[in-house]
Amino acid sequence: MKDITMPSKKLGFGLMRLPLKEDGVTIDTERTAAMADEFLKKGFTYFDTAYGYHGGESERALKKAVIERHPRESFTVATKLPAWMIKEKADVDKIFNDQLEKTGAGYFDYYLLHAVSKDKLDVYDGFDCWNYCLEKKKEGKIKHFGFSFHDTAAVLDEILTNHPEAEFVQLQLNYLDWDNDAVQAKLCYEVAEKHNMPVIVMEPVKGGTLARLPESVDAIFKAKSDASAASWAIRFAASQKNVFMVLSGMSDEAQMNDNIATMEDFQPLSECEIETVNKAVEEYKSFNTVPCTACRYCTDGCPVSIRIPDVISALNQAKDYGLGAKARRMYEKAL
Ligand SMILES: NC(=O)c1ccc[n+]([C@@H]2O[C@H](COP(=O)([O-])OP(=O)(O)OC[C@H]3O[C@@H](n4cnc5c(N)ncnc54)[C@H](OP(=O)(O)O)[C@@H]3O)[C@@H](O)[C@H]2O)c1
Ligand code: SF4
Repeated sequence: MKDITMPSKKLGFGLMRLPLKEDGVTIDTERTAAMADEFLKKGFTYFDTAYGYHGGESERALKKAVIERHPRESFTVATKLPAWMIKEKADVDKIFNDQLEKTGAGYFDYYLLHAVSKDKLDVYDGFDCWNYCLEKKKEGKIKHFGFSFHDTAAVLDEILTNHPEAEFVQLQLNYLDWDNDAVQAKLCYEVAEKHNMPVIVMEPVKGGTLARLPESVDAIFKAKSDASAASWAIRFAASQKNVFMVLSGMSDEAQMNDNIATMEDFQPLSECEIETVNKAVEEYKSFNTVPCTACRYCTDGCPVSIRIPDVISALNQAKDYGLGAKARRMYEKAL
């Protein structure tokens, strides 16, 4: 595997789903700071943000909650360059400098081209973002350089072949999408392994879906242990050999405490536990739910501001539990 600096603990704090104030939009920086303090106190160090998270406020929240309050060497920062905001070559430098200013981080431990897919290569290749990042690495502004990825395994293979300078890759990986034809989590992971790439996992709990399991699926896990549903999902991701970091977008203190407990003394899944996961997947497939991860990438583009993931979440609730009061409430709230 490529030799990069890997934090000793495998859980990262994803800053895409932070606790919000009552208006449902403003990040609750005080709560975020308290959660970050607890996270650091327990020996975890990795914070993952991006230029666009929380309407561009996530990087600022990281500055206030962590960077201004803790010694720089006590944590690592990952952030990302968004293809969709680059219209000309000069924008790359403009965004990068803006990120340095917004975070106050001084340098980025991990810097990623965001959500790389075949159709974004026009921008990332066209504006030579790969070499730009290598230059920043030489300047010491980036320690390690990689990309997050949303496309097929064949596309990943092509990109890793063309760009051996990438030092790690971030993949959407969870037990439900492992054999999914569209996400191709297992196939993508195997391509990363073939190229000796260290892997960071995003969406291990499938954006919350695997923490809110239908009763019959949950019962399969509960028959084995009292551990939370989320803990099975996080351990599944962390058990893959090349995975050195699992990011979770913890949106409250209880989620953070649960995930810290799971990963403080991480134990990979045993053979018997993997069988349990496989059984749960078989059961889950019978519900035929929509595989939305609530990443909200689609909402900005909607001309009539439909809250697409919230509508899907109501639909999934109805599929899992029937068209009861809760599904109706979720649907009404989404409108
Ligand atoms: N680069 C990219 O293209 C990209 C794309 C997606 C994500 N990411 C990064 O990866 C990070 C992780 O992705 P993600 O946020 O989708 O991760 P995730 O862990 O799959 O989903 C986070 C959600 O799962 C639920 N959850 C997590 N732990 C829980 C627990 N112990 N108990 C109950 N519920 C729990 C919460 O949902 P509720 O609050 O709804 O209950 C939480 O908001 C993001 O924060 C972001 O930094 C990057
Ligand atoms: S429907 Fe929207 S929120 Fe759901 S996975 Fe697709 S882009 Fe993300």
